[in-house]
Amino acid sequence: MEPTLHIGRLAGKVALISGAAKGIGLAIGQRFWQEGATVYLSDVFAPEAVGAMAAQPRMHYLVLDVQNEGAWAAAVDRIVAEQGHLDVLVNNAGILGLGHGPQNPEESSLESWELIHRINLAGVFLGCKHAIRAMKGHPERGGSIVNIASRSGVVGVADMAAYASSKAAVRNHTRSVALYCGRQGYNIRCNALNPADILTDMWEQMLGQGDARARALREVVAGIPLGHMGDPADVAAAAVFLASDDAKFVTGAELNIDGGVLAGSASAPKQHQ
Ligand SMILES: NC(=O)c1ccc[n+]([C@@H]2O[C@H](COP(=O)([O-])OP(=O)(O)OC[C@H]3O[C@@H](n4cnc5c(N)ncnc54)[C@H](O)[C@@H]3O)[C@@H](O)[C@H]2O)c1
Repeated sequence: MEPTLHIGRLAGKVALISGAAKGIGLAIGQRFWQEGATVYLSDVFAPEAVGAMAAQPRMHYLVLDVQNEGAWAAAVDRIVAEQGHLDVLVNNAGILGLGHGPQNPEESSLESWELIHRINLAGVFLGCKHAIRAMKGHPERGGSIVNIASRSGVVGVADMAAYASSKAAVRNHTRSVALYCGRQGYNIRCNALNPADILTDMWEQMLGQGDARARALREVVAGIPLGHMGDPADVAAAAVFLASDDAKFVTGAELNIDGGVLAGSASAPKQHQ
């Protein structure tokens, strides 16, 4: 993987990204690498291409199930042992809960509700906890935690209730972490990104195939002010800002990466001629 863009905004930084075998997490890892960071991609599984990815200088891959506190402790300890410090954590791993039964508030099973919160929310809590442990020893470096929340954590979602609840809690935990680290004088910042309508496997699972996919895609795009779906690289660009020293006075904040979706509302007043 040769960098096409190397501005070096993250040169010298060491970053860990969860759920980074594909989609938004992989795009963030690739962009961080292009910006000069040493990157530890991680995911619950090791994809076939992992050998090629990890063969690049400054690029590493490790298996990390975000539900497992022991795995977080081991991952962070390994990075500190190999690099001396951890500067950036992106808590990106997340699931919608497709394949775990209906996800509306009436029919969801307690089991799927707990699984989704365990991965999407407890996974973020554990990541923050262990990143703080590693980062607080280096206040001169300034740590940055970027939590990938969602538009679905800002509004309710009738058919993805546990997902929406977990992402809303991630947004709030981001603020608690930011306030706590500020009070402790750790110089660790914590911010959230709220993506929406980014075309990854997560959306492909919902869109289906063939004509049905084309119809479903048209329906989704009709609700996006910028008129098209987003790309994982759009989220990666915002993550670079929050991870970099350009954002050294930004903490407890969030940024919507949504093509304008959250700027408006359905049934807003307008002039009918
Ligand atoms: N795609 C969008 O439009 C969108 C919108 C809002 C928020 N998000 C969020 O962005 C993040 C990435 O989503 P994506 O669209 O790239 O989805 P994706 O399904 O392509 O990737 C998610 C990754 O998380 C990994 N993962 C799942 N469970 C895990 C676990 N227990 N431990 C570690 N990794 C695990 C998966 O293996 C996968 O590689 C998610 O948190 C998602 O909720 C995505």
